Amino acid sequence: MTSAEIREAFLRYFESQGHTRVASSSLVPANDPTLLFTNAGMNQFKDCFLGLEKRDYVRATSSQKCVRAGGKHNDLDNVGYTARHHTFFEMLGNFSFGDYFKRDAIKFAWEFLTSEKWLALPKDKLYATVYHTDDEAFDIWNKEIGLDASRIIRIGDNKGGQYASDNFWAMGDTGPCGPCSEIFFDHGDHIWGGLPGTPEEDGDRFIEIWNNVFMQFNRTADGVLHALPAPSVDTGMGLERISAVLQHVNSNYEIDLFQNLLKSAAQIIGLDTAALETEAAANNTPVNYPASLKVVADHARSCCFLIADGVNPSNEGRGYVLRRIIRRAVRHGNKLGATGSFFYKMLQPLVDVMGIAYPELEANKARIEALLLKEEEQFAKTLEQGLKLLEGELANLKGSVIPGAVVFKLYDTYGFPADLTADIARERDLTIDEAGFEVEMAAQRQRARDAGKFAIDYNSIVNVEGETQFDGYDATHGQGQIIAIYKDGEQVTEVNEGDEALIVLNQTPFYAESGGQIGDTGLFKNETGIFEVQDTKKSGGAFVHQGIVTMGSLKATQSVDAIVKADIREATARNHSATHLLHAALRQVLGAHVQQKGSLVASDILRFDFANDQPVTFEQLQQVERIVNREVIANTAVSTELLDIESAQEKGAMMLFGEKYGDEVRVLSMGSMVEDKNFSIELCGGIHVKRTGDIGLFKITSEGGVAAGVRRIEAVTGTKAVEVIQKADSDIQQINGLLKAQKDQTVEKVEATVETAHQLQKHIEQLNQKLANFQAAELLSQVQTIAGRSTLITTVQGMDAKSLRNLHDGVKSKLDNAVIVLAGIEGDKVSLLASVAKDFTANIKAGDIIKHLSQELGGKGGGKPDLAQGGAPLNEKFASVIAGLTAWLEAK
Ligand code: ALA
Repeated sequence: MTSAEIREAFLRYFESQGHTRVASSSLVPANDPTLLFTNAGMNQFKDCFLGLEKRDYVRATSSQKCVRAGGKHNDLDNVGYTARHHTFFEMLGNFSFGDYFKRDAIKFAWEFLTSEKWLALPKDKLYATVYHTDDEAFDIWNKEIGLDASRIIRIGDNKGGQYASDNFWAMGDTGPCGPCSEIFFDHGDHIWGGLPGTPEEDGDRFIEIWNNVFMQFNRTADGVLHALPAPSVDTGMGLERISAVLQHVNSNYEIDLFQNLLKSAAQIIGLDTAALETEAAANNTPVNYPASLKVVADHARSCCFLIADGVNPSNEGRGYVLRRIIRRAVRHGNKLGATGSFFYKMLQPLVDVMGIAYPELEANKARIEALLLKEEEQFAKTLEQGLKLLEGELANLKGSVIPGAVVFKLYDTYGFPADLTADIARERDLTIDEAGFEVEMAAQRQRARDAGKFAIDYNSIVNVEGETQFDGYDATHGQGQIIAIYKDGEQVTEVNEGDEALIVLNQTPFYAESGGQIGDTGLFKNETGIFEVQDTKKSGGAFVHQGIVTMGSLKATQSVDAIVKADIREATARNHSATHLLHAALRQVLGAHVQQKGSLVASDILRFDFANDQPVTFEQLQQVERIVNREVIANTAVSTELLDIESAQEKGAMMLFGEKYGDEVRVLSMGSMVEDKNFSIELCGGIHVKRTGDIGLFKITSEGGVAAGVRRIEAVTGTKAVEVIQKADSDIQQINGLLKAQKDQTVEKVEATVETAHQLQKHIEQLNQKLANFQAAELLSQVQTIAGRSTLITTVQGMDAKSLRNLHDGVKSKLDNAVIVLAGIEGDKVSLLASVAKDFTANIKAGDIIKHLSQELGGKGGGKPDLAQGGAPLNEKFASVIAGLTAWLEAK
């Protein structure tokens, strides 16, 4: 049977059982903010289950378009690599709204699958699962259907929580849910995989083909399950999976529909699959196309259907998921050798195989193709820019690891996924510094949180010809004309109060984030409205102001007053200039190997990452601080000049990592003159103080490692530095108060206090020893004989490993020839100690006792035959494990 015939047979069977045939709903759920995409046949009936909506039927059947990418049911990363996962698939379903329940649901399913009149599947290939407590469903399968009990598998809460189970289905975090019974098909023992509930269940041998959900509850946001007005039924059978079964193939990608799509994909990409096809024909099997081609074919379905249903690629919500799927498809196409735009061409073959059942594909053909093409072109640009930067970095790379900061910059500025950089690295026998990348990512998330901003990939939205002229080096106030406005990822001509938007001006005093310096904040205003600028970034030559309209409205081509927040800008400039001085001072103190590896210049902090193998010592840090502050006090003028790159090099300017330099560069010189050269000369497009004295004060606040061979210094300047010093002062003041110390006596007093604590500790240990002796005497009364050996098993409270040892020594001195097992509980930890007298070690070893106990308790331990120690977390098993030890010892 073809997929189309199976779809039709299913719907006809359920019609013959009194069900109304209902058309698939849109992939964009109507009025349901809890759901990203339609992910099951029941979505459109949600309100019927909840009793909120009555229709003129109580039984329905449908073939529903579903997308499972993003949200609760997300299969994206599996696609291409398993035989049965898709981003888009069709779900056949039958539904009862308070009409029939478990019995009929199971009977219908069985009849449709096994009856000669319908699918006629061999019964001995089918298995069923039920929720572990669902005896009713078990009995229906067993007694009424006649399925042998060995073929009915109970599945409990196997996903880490009550009702978190493969056999408890929920539409999302809230909404209708209930226990379910799944039907599995055995594809045969030539395929790897195990039955549900076994460790091999993820293999492709036993495939779930049909899920019968017994809808009973509505889960609310507080996690509580409320009974539905009436027990109902929701079922789902993946059309692709049942087609695979009926067409005697193991993979969904081998069914008629996919074979056609895959063949077209290979042609479009220009992939030569002749050898694969010949081989398949010779063996009379379907063609096993490469995984990347499967990704392209699968993703073409979800992308075309999503666009047909009105989703546009963007940077938020549904549009963002769509964009990720498109990009994943394009990358896999590129892997196979596709050049130029190809993905949009997948629409036509898709229309050929699915166009009759889903006329919306043909109807939206032009729009789908145009959007896909535009998206591919934009992504290609992104990739190209990123690749160029990466090539530059690779040319200068020393060693075989691409630094995390470079991977991050590629990701952040060019939308270059880290796994793509890793792929390219792999091809050249290089690796990426993943840990360093994660550090940068974490820092970025923190910055975004700090500023309460939404994260945006500007490059993929903004598409402006021409450049913004920056006139903010000497001013924080200027005029500009709006040349483009973007809202929700789309270009618009007007934005209104409350709208979040991106605005590009022809000229601006706002500094756009670059060279580590954060973008300016402030506002635009004119006679029609006010726009609060929360961040400024560059996209190509355009300066993009991101923010929100706080009053009125703004329109394209209007002029605005552009006003930068001057105090923030000044604080940022202080930190930027101090970063240059810090860089030069570090080179003086540590050596010329100090190279900038990354930097963040914000208004409240500066962060400087640099190459250095060792931690910087406290003395070195102090020396660096003195040098920088000496330059601050010297209060020399900061100068900038535009030079061609050769003259800049001649002048001795430091070129910075990852920066792109044009023919003409801006050279920044600051600090005192040493042998005709300024203390610091760097190429830099950032904003700086006029004189070094403007920095006020420089104070390092931390030093640490970020990645192999990279250190990070954080520091503050100006009033922030004063704050930091005052805080340290007031801490000392408080300490002096606690110690009753005079000023300047702090260290002396702390030393004395530490010494006293030391003495006291020793004293306590001696007392504990004595106490242990007493306790030991008491414990002797608990000695019992197990397997003919004197044995003491006891638990003592408030004892760590060390005290336990003392206690043991005390007991042992009074108890000859015995087995001693002590468990000490302190807080949520258990310490274990066992000793076995030499006479017994042939039969029983202390190490084995401890291994046994710690294994049972989920801890660690071991030791010698006569003495062993271990530890474990304290948990509910503790009492029973200790109680069980007697029997364990008896057996030895
Ligand atoms: N709604 C159920 C599922 O998706 C049938 O598995």
